[in-house]
Amino acid sequence: MITGVRPTGFLTIGNYLGAIKPLLESAEDGTAVFVADLHGLTDADPSTVAKYRLEVVRDYLALGVDSSRFYLYLQSAIGRETALCASYLSPLMSVAELLRVPTLKDKVKGGGPESANVALLNYPILMAADIFLQQASLVPVGEDQLAHLEVARVLATRFNRLYGHDGSRVLIEPKPLALKSLRILSLNGEGKMSKSNPAGAIFLTDSSAVVSKKIKSAVTALPGEMNPNLESLFLIGTLLSENDETRTKFEEFMTNHLAGEKVMGYFKNLLIEVVNRFLDLFQRERKLYSNEDILEILEEGKDKAREKARSVLSDMERAMGF
Ligand code: TRP
Repeated sequence: MITGVRPTGFLTIGNYLGAIKPLLESAEDGTAVFVADLHGLTDADPSTVAKYRLEVVRDYLALGVDSSRFYLYLQSAIGRETALCASYLSPLMSVAELLRVPTLKDKVKGGGPESANVALLNYPILMAADIFLQQASLVPVGEDQLAHLEVARVLATRFNRLYGHDGSRVLIEPKPLALKSLRILSLNGEGKMSKSNPAGAIFLTDSSAVVSKKIKSAVTALPGEMNPNLESLFLIGTLLSENDETRTKFEEFMTNHLAGEKVMGYFKNLLIEVVNRFLDLFQRERKLYSNEDILEILEEGKDKAREKARSVLSDMERAMGF
């Protein structure tokens, strides 16, 4: 298995509950966890990517991505191998096919071809290189990454058909592992929780005072009524609850709310308590990793990732007769 994360900002509890927690629950030992800093360059400036790439690793470690179960590395640490692999794959796909990938298609539809850079065109090919070089057969992904993964499957099939002598499979065709998609919504009622709408997002780095303020002004529903925003708050509370007793309290609040009682104030107080307890634990855990610790973990991960990458590259070159 392999999973990549783009280092373009601080993580929110939406990232944790929607992607990282389900990943931890489904990932097998030996999974590659890497920071896609080259992909980050698609739409963020290099210094921003450089600023966040170690922080994201620290976040992941603090959230339980254990370096004894997983190997962690920066994509750029095996950047030469990755770029070379992408070069070998590029001739196998047409521009027209890439233009059908939704991320690019939507961008072009909105602002014309001038608005999309070549990194965006190349994005799925680079992603395929990440996957092939680590010989991953299963990629846990959310809905938004399915089209990218399809490109990788097509590329593997084509490469094997073209260059796999006697039907040998040089590249593994990766399958998606659909993560149970949780929709954690923005607290102020504007779509999904996202770092681009900071007022409606709870960041893992938020202080307890900030969390309290954000939750107090969060959108809920009138007594007796339900809406997606309140459902999302309820989900946050139950998922972050440390024990059954707290979960039961959330359920009671919900029952009473649906029965028409005015309980939103109490509900929010409990939610603030639960979120802050989680964040406090996370923030303390985060401090336990020094920069040296992180660099050491990444160095170890790089060695393993590079060894695999080089072996796949030589297999590709041998098959291609290059
Ligand atoms: N595109 C992924 C995202 O934005 C990140 C990514 C890059 C990735 N390469 C990958 C994910 C390889 C899985 C496998 O979330």
